[in-house]
Amino acid sequence: MSKLTQRKSVELLLEESRETNTGMKRTLTAWALIALGIGAIIGAGLFVRTAAAAANNAGSAVTLGFVVAGIGCALAGLSYAELSSMIPISGSAYTYSYATMGELVAWIIGWDLVLEYALGAATVSIAWSEYLNKLLEYIGMRIPFAWSHSPFETFTDASGVVSHGIMNIPAFIIVAALSLLLIKGSRESSMVNSIIVITKIAIVILFIVIGWSFINPANHTPFIPAPQIYTDTQGIPHNYGGILGVLGAAGVVFFAFIGFDAVSTAAQETKNPKKAMPIGILGSLAICTILYILFAYVLTGVATVDDFRHAGKEASVVYAIQTYMTGFDWLAKLVTVAILAGFSSVILVMLYGQSRVFYSMSRDGLVPKIFSDLHHKFRTPYKSNILFMIFVGVFASFVPGDIVGDMTSIGTLFAFILVSVGVIIMRKTHPNIPRQFKTPFVPVVPILGIITCGAMIYGLGWANWSRLLVWLAIGLFIYFAYSIKKSKLRDENQEK
Ligand code: ALA
Repeated sequence: MSKLTQRKSVELLLEESRETNTGMKRTLTAWALIALGIGAIIGAGLFVRTAAAAANNAGSAVTLGFVVAGIGCALAGLSYAELSSMIPISGSAYTYSYATMGELVAWIIGWDLVLEYALGAATVSIAWSEYLNKLLEYIGMRIPFAWSHSPFETFTDASGVVSHGIMNIPAFIIVAALSLLLIKGSRESSMVNSIIVITKIAIVILFIVIGWSFINPANHTPFIPAPQIYTDTQGIPHNYGGILGVLGAAGVVFFAFIGFDAVSTAAQETKNPKKAMPIGILGSLAICTILYILFAYVLTGVATVDDFRHAGKEASVVYAIQTYMTGFDWLAKLVTVAILAGFSSVILVMLYGQSRVFYSMSRDGLVPKIFSDLHHKFRTPYKSNILFMIFVGVFASFVPGDIVGDMTSIGTLFAFILVSVGVIIMRKTHPNIPRQFKTPFVPVVPILGIITCGAMIYGLGWANWSRLLVWLAIGLFIYFAYSIKKSKLRDENQEK
């Protein structure tokens, strides 16, 4: 077998999962996983990216974008669930691909997951900063534009005065605070998370129920806008309307679904993971999909596309309530506070997932040992948390939310495709390993997952394709310069 396609044996992975001396404690139940999932799922994708997709891609047809994205996630989620139930180990898609497609593909996925988790955390931190400014407005304050936006953003006010961003300080601060909380340990973090999850679901339902009567049918007409090119306020052209618009919107709001797979990164800290994992992954996905479709329908019915392009571009949900839902100012305030808390739980799970993927990669020797050093008391990979605090903080401070958001989407879609391929391969190479959960209709379901995720990647356009390629090229360079020599699997094979 070629070095690059060397696979980590499933038997070895299972052996590792049985080891009790890995240092991580098994404390999470299926319910805790669903909470972890929803904690990661509902966030900036819904409360920020929905409006961006309506503005740039599809108008009210962003609702259809959610349907497409939900279908893609459900299909890929079924593949995730099978792999996570047979390989209950930290590390998510990275670990699965190490066993199925070999070291090089595993490396590519692990590297790609940095886009999902680390840049995902940065995206939500930027959104957090938008809503923090809304909260401060209630008490007559505001963080200056320059200190709450990246250097690539500008804003022209009604009198023509142009403001430039310098650094998004609130986004940096929230990343730092949550990284420190994570270091204290996942048990405490998941308790905080559960409280936030309940609040978050409550406000989504409140907005749907109350907002429904404020829907203006004119905003839903035509439901799918005619195809055209829309150039946004930063001068970037988008395919707006038509099928391409809906696919683009699906790719953008796909961000809103990211996170259910983060559940699988917690396998080593889960009681009875074979059973709890599929429940956690698919359960959290199902709840969120229904809420999203309804939410997007109401939001695009209450406010106009023009709002989402200009005055209501930031903190769009609160803008819609304040502008169109007269008498519900209390809801705007409640939503702001809940969103701030809700975003925090998303960032927390993203940072958690990131450190756990690198923990696994580090134990395999593919990234330096520093990423798997555990704190003597908290038993968390604290050095890794600190390094990612800096990495994520830099992106959150200096890159616009739209860019990191779409990079997160495309990186995750790519990982989902590889996971779907992994299930097909695994059925052929390891047909007899017990699976607590089996993906139905293999290979049809994984193939449909690949097609749907591929279509969303297509919809995200060439700027995002090239960013993904650059990121993967950097990853390949590191692999051939460092990881290939340090891989523990290679050492073991060479000793034989
Ligand atoms: N799904 C998460 C969010 O929407 C990443 O914020």
